[in-house]
Amino acid sequence: MTASRISLSPRVALVTGAGQGLGRAHALALARHGAIVAVNDLSCEDAQSVAQEIVGSGGQAMACPANVADPDSVNAMIDSVMTRYGRIDILVNNAGILRDRTFAKSTIEDFRAVIDVNLMGSVHCTHAVWNLMRERQYGRIVFTTSSSGLYGNFGQANYSAAKMGLVGLMQTLAIEGKRHGIHVNCLAPSAATGMTSGLYDSGDLARLGSGMVAPAVVALCAQEAPTRAIILAGAGRFAQAHVTMTRGTYLNGEQDIAAAVLSHMDRIGDRDGDHVPASGPEQHQMEVAGLKHFANVPLI
Ligand SMILES: NC(=O)c1ccc[n+]([C@@H]2O[C@H](COP(=O)([O-])OP(=O)(O)OC[C@H]3O[C@@H](n4cnc5c(N)ncnc54)[C@H](O)[C@@H]3O)[C@@H](O)[C@H]2O)c1
Repeated sequence: MTASRISLSPRVALVTGAGQGLGRAHALALARHGAIVAVNDLSCEDAQSVAQEIVGSGGQAMACPANVADPDSVNAMIDSVMTRYGRIDILVNNAGILRDRTFAKSTIEDFRAVIDVNLMGSVHCTHAVWNLMRERQYGRIVFTTSSSGLYGNFGQANYSAAKMGLVGLMQTLAIEGKRHGIHVNCLAPSAATGMTSGLYDSGDLARLGSGMVAPAVVALCAQEAPTRAIILAGAGRFAQAHVTMTRGTYLNGEQDIAAAVLSHMDRIGDRDGDHVPASGPEQHQMEVAGLKHFANVPLI
């Protein structure tokens, strides 16, 4: 099936950390699909250069340098975009940093710096546009998570915590935003950028261009975008991650329930019939629903 081309005109998109790497590719791709793009970066020079690139190709863009870790800086940036364009329909939270070290060698300062940019930076930007989007009953928000958050990676405890925090943020904002036309999704990219230099095999670099990830962002920013999805994108492959719940098992009849938990780990973790709950409360609803089969349930 051939998909029809997505038009993002006349949407206004703000992309953070768009001065280089993936953010730059996202900004260029959104502009190619007709969006007006506010190009954020910590580096004023890089933000201006990307905005000029978009304008030079016939698009509309403005540079809005700001530090996403600083709420005052973010609020001033949002004000400048609103003054210029009067609306923000799309927010791509892309800005990110690394402070890789094993947990044993890491410092609390490094941990906080990574949380401040990757997690709180996204919170600041999203909080600043949330009510603007609610007023217009329309919004598309993307959080940039990572396979390191979803699945872990040696030396990246701080980054993993920040990136998985974004998944939790997305899960709840997708639920809260749905009735207001705000769709919220996560992207877990892989691309050869400044951040990942030296990480990927040199033979794979040509296949790992940021431009291979950007179409996922365009899709997640479209009118038809899903909500509450975690999309994995790299080298032209698109996949989806799910936070699932297994069917589980009741151990109420066991003499030593703690010991039974360990001896039944295969049944507890059996993925046959697992599912993605619509929201957190489904956990206890399922737990309680199954209880009626047991007469003697210990209350403590
Ligand atoms: N490249 C990958 O394979 C990969 C994998 C998983 C996740 N990610 C995530 O994708 C995003 C983009 O990564 P990238 O590889 O393009 O990195 P990059 O280092 O090439 O680009 C990051 C950009 O963010 C900007 N930035 C950093 N701190 C900022 C701040 N406080 N305020 C505003 N801008 C700031 C930088 O100036 C830079 O332009 C990040 O969130 C990263 O964690 C990347």
